[in-house]
Parts: sequence; structure tokens; C-alpha cells
Amino acid sequence: MSTPDLTEQSGYAEKLIRGRRATRAFRPEAVPADTIRAIFSLAGAAPSASNAQPWQVMVVSGAARERLADALQAAHAEKRVSVDFPYDEGMYSQVHQTRRASFGAKLYGALGIGRDDHTARAAYDAESLRFYGAPHAAFLFVDGDGEPRLAADVGAYMQTLLLAMTAYGVGSCPQGMLSFYADTVRAELGVTGGRLLVGVSFGYADEAAPVNRVTTGRAALAATTTFLA
Ligand SMILES: Cc1cc2nc3c(=O)[nH]c(=O)nc-3n(C[C@H](O)[C@H](O)[C@H](O)COP(=O)(O)O)c2cc1C
Repeated sequence: MSTPDLTEQSGYAEKLIRGRRATRAFRPEAVPADTIRAIFSLAGAAPSASNAQPWQVMVVSGAARERLADALQAAHAEKRVSVDFPYDEGMYSQVHQTRRASFGAKLYGALGIGRDDHTARAAYDAESLRFYGAPHAAFLFVDGDGEPRLAADVGAYMQTLLLAMTAYGVGSCPQGMLSFYADTVRAELGVTGGRLLVGVSFGYADEAAPVNRVTTGRAALAATTTFLA
């Protein structure tokens, strides 16, 4: 039996996990259907408590994607917000807010949008409902009433999906913003059950777009992780 080359394997994991980053500008060409199927099949290998796999996933492309983007923009313009998972800014602690502000400064800086230019920021947010130009979007629903433990399983599915896309050279952006129009998504896609956790826009990254060169740091290991022995 040959010994696995751990150095090589950890190098691969470093490349895959650190190589994934949010893509916010896409080329228009579609990802081939068989590649999409391979990616979503791989994502289904995600872990879940007792292997319940409490996710339902809808993937939109082509005309379905166009119709949904139009419906989302209309819902946004008419302020028809509907969330399945309540959102409250108060859930963020001071340290979270500091990290969020630092990320926001980088993102809007790359877009050339000034700190206090609320109009331009709002326009960018509205435009993001067209999936940042991605030719495809996936919607991740939590089965049943969206019980928090089931939602955690769908979070594990989401990250597995993002890494599968990275491995196939496909760029992605998880968009909580898409979950603010849950009723619109449900109506357009003919979904009757479940709770919408997040949407994921995906396709091939537009490497020339400055917004895709935004890099995000992470807290030091000691700030989040404690090792006891
Ligand atoms: C659950 C979730 C929701 C997110 N929602 C949005 C969003 O609505 N719009 C957006 O542009 N990015 C969104 N992101 C992307 C984050 O901003 C991004 O993952 C974070 O800043 C770290 O950057 P990185 O993914 O490039 O490493 C979301 C990410 C997650 C995990």
C-alpha cells in the first residue's frame, strides 16, 4: 500500500479552499450542462446530521434565469421584501461590524463607489439581483420550517457546492440578498415548500473586472479557535 503524500494533498486543499472567493462579475457564456450536473452531484456529498440531507436546490439558467432576474428587480423596486429567515443587524457584535465595514470599504473601493454615496451603493445592490451577470443561479431551500439545525446542514451543503464549483473552474457568489425576496423566488420557480436560505450565482469569472480582484482577510486563528489539551 502506498503512503498518501500528505504534503501534496494539503497543498491541494490550500489551493482549493483559499482559491475560492466571491465572484461579482461573470462572462456571459453558459457552463456546460454536464459540468453543472457534475458540480451539483458532488455538492450532494456534503455532510448533514444523521445524513438527513435537508436541502432542496433549484438551478436556473437561460430564459428561467431572465424571468427570475426581472421579477426580482420588480420586487425590489416595489419593496416587496419577504424573508424566510429573519434578518436583524443587531445580530452582529462590534467585532463583526468592524470586519463587515472593512470588507465593505474594499468592495465599494474596487467599484469606485464612495463611502457615503448611498445612491450608488443602492443601485449596485439592485443590480446584484441580476446575479452579477452570472448565467446561472442556484437557490438553496431548507426543508420544512427551516429549523436552525437543518439550516446549518444546508450551510454545509453551500460550502461544499462552492468548493465543487472552484474545483471545476467555475466562479460563484453566495448572495444572501437573493433570500430577501423569498416569495418572488418561490412564485417564479413554482416552489411550494421549504425556506429559502441563500442564492448562489455562478458561471465563469470575468477576470478583467476589478471587483473580482477584491481580497478578504480572515481573523487570526487565536481569535476564533481555542485548542485545549
Ligand atoms: C451566507 C452568505 C451570504 C452572502 N451574501 C452576499 C450578498 O448578498 N452579496 C454579495 O455580494 N456577497 C455576499 N456574500 C459573499 C461574502 O461577502 C464573502 O463570502 C465574504 O466577504 C468573504 O469573501 P470571499 O468569499 O471572497 O472569501 C455572502 C456570503 C455568504 C456565505
